[in-house]
Amino acid sequence: MSSLGKKTVEELSVSGKRVLVRCDFNVPMKDGVITNDNRIVAALPTIKKLIENGGKVILCSHLGKPKNGPEEKFSLAPVAVRLSELLGQPVVFANDDEVVGENAKAAVAAMNNGDVVLLQNTRFRKEETKNIDTFSKDLASLADCYVNDAFGSAHRAHCSTAGVTEFIKDTAVGYLMEKEIRYLGNAVNDPVRPFTAILGGAKVADKLNVIDNLLNKVDTLIIGGGMAYTFLAAKGYGIGTSLVDETKLDYCKDMMKKAEEKGVQLLLPVDTVVAASFPDPIDAPIAAETVASNSIPADKMGLDIGEETRKLFSDAVLNSKTVVWNGPMGVFENPTLAAGTLAVAKAMADADATTVIGGGDSAAAVMQLGFGDQMTHISTGGGASLEYLEGKELPGIACIQNA
Ligand code: 3PG
Ligand code: MG
Repeated sequence: MSSLGKKTVEELSVSGKRVLVRCDFNVPMKDGVITNDNRIVAALPTIKKLIENGGKVILCSHLGKPKNGPEEKFSLAPVAVRLSELLGQPVVFANDDEVVGENAKAAVAAMNNGDVVLLQNTRFRKEETKNIDTFSKDLASLADCYVNDAFGSAHRAHCSTAGVTEFIKDTAVGYLMEKEIRYLGNAVNDPVRPFTAILGGAKVADKLNVIDNLLNKVDTLIIGGGMAYTFLAAKGYGIGTSLVDETKLDYCKDMMKKAEEKGVQLLLPVDTVVAASFPDPIDAPIAAETVASNSIPADKMGLDIGEETRKLFSDAVLNSKTVVWNGPMGVFENPTLAAGTLAVAKAMADADATTVIGGGDSAAAVMQLGFGDQMTHISTGGGASLEYLEGKELPGIACIQNA
């Protein structure tokens, strides 16, 4: 049994059986070329285990957000090629616009134990994101058992991530799902203290429930990035033309009060890197200066944390035993505005702590800045890890049978 209380691939008997596996192969692509294959690599342990145990491995995933059915640019064909290279064995790509079509049926019928088939993008079927039974039944008709290993999509209640379990009863979670929940779950629910969470990113509105939930768990909460300016405004500071959500000022006040009541140290920027406007293009050279966070000039926009804040945040990280980070500290895509995000990444790399990166932009930042291999865990989920940090139950996990 896993710490999740769910049946796992270890306990699933698959020899000679058709196993439908939901992966998150939603990888970044440019002109049909995969630019980062982390999510494919992360799915390999489960796929290899099922091959080794003699299953007939039928993989499925979505890619991107096709709105009107099949579109060539959202085809999973490049993933089949890359996966085959990584596995060192053929991966038959069943290229059906209706996902479960003649090609898929014929490919599955021809499978021997240990063979691998990849279905076309599940979002080519309009029922997928609406979780409509017709598609769930079609998927279920291909297989005897089902494994969900798509942590990055576990916050979606779609046909391929949840609905299909109405029609296939023998179900399990994969190794990636287990690993993600082990790191994120232990960090949040059973942390070695001091426990620090760092939240950044553009919008407060995206993190409302995360802030609220984490204030019940952490010793220190660090807030940087675009969302910090709404907090600074709530403190009554002038923030110039910085990003602000006027509708969330009271919320920020409530959270500052909650932190105080709970004895949580809430750290906000004390100095700020400002410029005349947002860089356009994002990596364009830009004239920036550093000012105190309570005196941002009326015509200036805050775009990164200043040097004093970098030190303040880094010291908090270095004094922690568990650190969870979600959201960059500034416009890290711009060399002039990357220092804040870089400082936090470096402090995490240097800390004698369990360090967990909650996917999405912060994962991209950590890898782009070269600290990828120095973190304890980098989540493959963006939205999914955020919803997990909010304390929500993820439908893609909830639907799996208990151990
Ligand atoms: C992601 O990349 O966030 C996951 O694959 C889920 O994709 P979605 O946000 O399009 O549902
Ligand atoms: Mg998303």
